[in-house]
Amino acid sequence: MNKSGAKEPKDDSQVKKEGPVQSVKGMRDLLSDEFFSLEGFFEKASEIALYYGFQPIQTPLIEREEAFLRTVGEYTDIVQKETYTFRTKGGDRLILRPEGTAGVMRAYIEHGMHTLPQPVMLFYYGPFFRHENPQRGRQRQFQQFGIEVLGIDKSVADAITIRVLLTILEEAGLKDIIVEINSLGDKECRSQYKKALYAYFKRHIGKLSANEKELLKNNPLRLLDSKNPDIIPLKEKAPEAMDYLTGASKEHFKEVLEYLDTLKIPFRINSNLVRGLDYYSQTVFEFVLEKEEETEKGKESVRIELGGGGRYDYLAKMLGAKKDIPSVGGALGVSRIISLGYGTHLKPRILKKPRVFFIQLGFEAKLQSLGVIEILRKAKLPVRQSLSKDGLSVQLGIAERLKISWVLILGQKEVLEESIIVRNMEDRSQQTVKIADLADYIKKVIAK
Ligand code: HAM
Repeated sequence: MNKSGAKEPKDDSQVKKEGPVQSVKGMRDLLSDEFFSLEGFFEKASEIALYYGFQPIQTPLIEREEAFLRTVGEYTDIVQKETYTFRTKGGDRLILRPEGTAGVMRAYIEHGMHTLPQPVMLFYYGPFFRHENPQRGRQRQFQQFGIEVLGIDKSVADAITIRVLLTILEEAGLKDIIVEINSLGDKECRSQYKKALYAYFKRHIGKLSANEKELLKNNPLRLLDSKNPDIIPLKEKAPEAMDYLTGASKEHFKEVLEYLDTLKIPFRINSNLVRGLDYYSQTVFEFVLEKEEETEKGKESVRIELGGGGRYDYLAKMLGAKKDIPSVGGALGVSRIISLGYGTHLKPRILKKPRVFFIQLGFEAKLQSLGVIEILRKAKLPVRQSLSKDGLSVQLGIAERLKISWVLILGQKEVLEESIIVRNMEDRSQQTVKIADLADYIKKVIAK
């Protein structure tokens, strides 16, 4: 069911063919309040990122398919089921970006950013596309805000990433976020760990579904992501990545946790945390909100993932770079955060509270109205009006509803005299002012 109570179509091909054209399943229009919340969130998040020294980047919404096949991982849900790929008339295989990191790393390599002082710290935001089953907090087009720290292997970069993203969540009004964290180790540790997981799940193969048996063969780490109730108890007893960390990886992880302690960021080690993308190594983390919710089984604590990230020290080579570029980053699911009602107070700076309401009476006044609005705009006085309405009382009623204290009334007589009435809605006093003096007069009375 969607918000209006209407049933979601089962799949794309079943979308109604008659009647007015509708939006695509899992993709929504953003109307004024939600649009402003999103813009306000991005503005606040960008400001925080800029304070910490991040610079903006905007990569294209469309990339070459290979940028994601190898990096996100052939045996991940994203690549196997969720990508929007297409072939152009020229024969290129392209993809609507399902996430931001691979594109940012592609840009880093393409623009030779290794010649800049390292690390290169970048932030980005905008829409991403995954062909998932739409449900609450999960859409096919959704918005993320992400940061990436490229060209650094030091644990301080992991700590900055977590600090900045958590600060953004806090500014959006989220107080009790849990930082879940784990380490997958470097290449060596990961490969030893994969072998251990393979051997463990192989012993319990009878409990695995056909799909999970495939995963066991190709990507046993993904089994730790499984929601299958039969294997949840198995996951609890599965080998833990942490036990396979070798010297340097262990040290790196210990340092990250020390930073979090020093920054007073509470965290919870989650040994099943592997993330849904294959490019990760070393630190991985998720920002989790736990909420009591009424479910089919009664009241339950629901885990909502608001963002996540980690190190991706080997991603650059997967994209064809000659050398590894150790890096770390993370992204927030902004659509999800806003749909839960957080961040709606973050209004963008362009959204101004109207200071005056403009009323016009008669055709002559309507003709002059745009000139008056332009005078007010130039004087930086935000104005609201209802040019489609004609009567005085209906327009006054709108001004009252909007709780705007100053009203400008332009009638036939005022047009002839090149003046306008300025009325104070609180004490009902009014004054006729020359249009040429209007901006100065309003600034004076508003400042009082
Ligand atoms: P991710 O965990 O796939 O990571 O996505 C980040 C966040 O986007 C998720 O925590 C979730 O809140 C939100 N999200 C994901 N899919 C959807 C969806 N279908 N609808 C609504 N929200 C969604 C990444 O994308 C990595 N690129 C993060 C990263 C940056 N790692 C390193 N640097």
